[in-house]
Amino acid sequence: MKNLLVTGGCGFIGTNFIRYLLSDTVAGSSNRFDGRIINVDKLTYAGNPDNLNSVADAHPERYCFVRADICDYQATAGVFREYEIDAVCHFAAESHVDRSIVDPDAFVRTNIIGTFNLLELARENQDRMIRFHHISTDEVFGSLGTEGFFTEQTAYDPSSPYSASKAGSDHLVRAYSRTYGLPVTISNCSNNYGPYQFPEKLIPLMILNALEAKPLPVYGDGLNVRDWLYAADHCRAIWEIMTRGRSGETYNIGGGCEMKNIDLVKMICDLMDRKIPDRSAGDSSKLITFVEDRPGHDRRYAIDCRKLQKELGWKPQESFESGLGKTIDWYLNNPDWINRVRTGEYQKWVKQHYGDTEKR
Ligand code: NAD
Ligand code: DAU
Repeated sequence: MKNLLVTGGCGFIGTNFIRYLLSDTVAGSSNRFDGRIINVDKLTYAGNPDNLNSVADAHPERYCFVRADICDYQATAGVFREYEIDAVCHFAAESHVDRSIVDPDAFVRTNIIGTFNLLELARENQDRMIRFHHISTDEVFGSLGTEGFFTEQTAYDPSSPYSASKAGSDHLVRAYSRTYGLPVTISNCSNNYGPYQFPEKLIPLMILNALEAKPLPVYGDGLNVRDWLYAADHCRAIWEIMTRGRSGETYNIGGGCEMKNIDLVKMICDLMDRKIPDRSAGDSSKLITFVEDRPGHDRRYAIDCRKLQKELGWKPQESFESGLGKTIDWYLNNPDWINRVRTGEYQKWVKQHYGDTEKR
């Protein structure tokens, strides 16, 4: 791989992935990456250019950023041409379930049409395309009851406009492999947490609200279960699959770490009480507020990722306790990042830098 296109690299997992790929860990591994990353991101509210400033400074030859919308075929085609793209790792998406319930339009456009454009461009450049890796979610499988796990054979049964749009994109990717022989892989991962996550998602929202002593909104009865994975472990799995996974295959990725939302929120509260000066035990949990449930709220997700473990030897390295502690520390140690997100300064910078139009 000489020229790897990463889409959505300014989002939460994309940022962690680019940082990982250019890290000493990968450089010193048997799976090293010597190529160049071309990060294409539209910089929606979820894309924060601050995330990769230090990467751009440290790796001017190996990292380029192009602001573009993957729904804009011509702009994206220009990137394939100019940078001679030979591999794709596709993160770009509208990713928040609650937003998809209020305003599904952008989800259908970016997640389905955007993915379709990338597939078409990969097909046009198929002679040099080594791998098209599509990042997807366990939410395509719908909800589990109290027993069982999602496997790669579980039938798709999405509940939200978000998960339905991701399901649509997965089907397209698989179809391009079967119909045109495009060398694709797909990964369906459970809930991620870690540094750089936008504070609309459960864990960073609870951390920042607890910090500011604001209510901690728990949906419904708080007994919904998610299977949590530290983002760095997800990134390691993606790179294993991209480089060593079998073309045409799907791999589930999960943390083996099921938690009821309410238990997780209480765990965050306990850690915050210990980490924030002037807080006493029990202070943060007084902020927990049960609110109206999310419509179509999936009850339980749990991933069977034995295929990934068996074929590629991957397993999570971070325990939930240490990963959650590190995540809280990251938010507590990055007040400038939080402040620029909270005040919208990061988006003002985008407007000043690129103007209102989305140009390359
Ligand atoms: P995110 O919302 O933090 O980031 C998405 C990024 O995509 C942003 O930088 C945004 O600017 C960019 N983007 C959005 N629309 C675009 C467009 N039209 N053109 C170009 N760029 C665009 O998302 P995330 O949490 O980092 O998720 C990344 C991927 O991983 C998504 O495909 C998501 O479905 C999948 N996923 C996420 C999780 C999770 O827990 N966060 C779990 C499993 C899978
Ligand atoms: O499972 C993978 C998916 O995980 C990804 O595909 C999505 O992109 C990602 O956003 C995430 O989806 P969830 O809906 O599971 O994540 P979220 O952080 O929004 O919510 C986690 C759980 O917490 C869910 O059961 C809803 C609940 N919740 C969420 C918020 C934001 C609350 O109780 N209160 C809240 O304020």
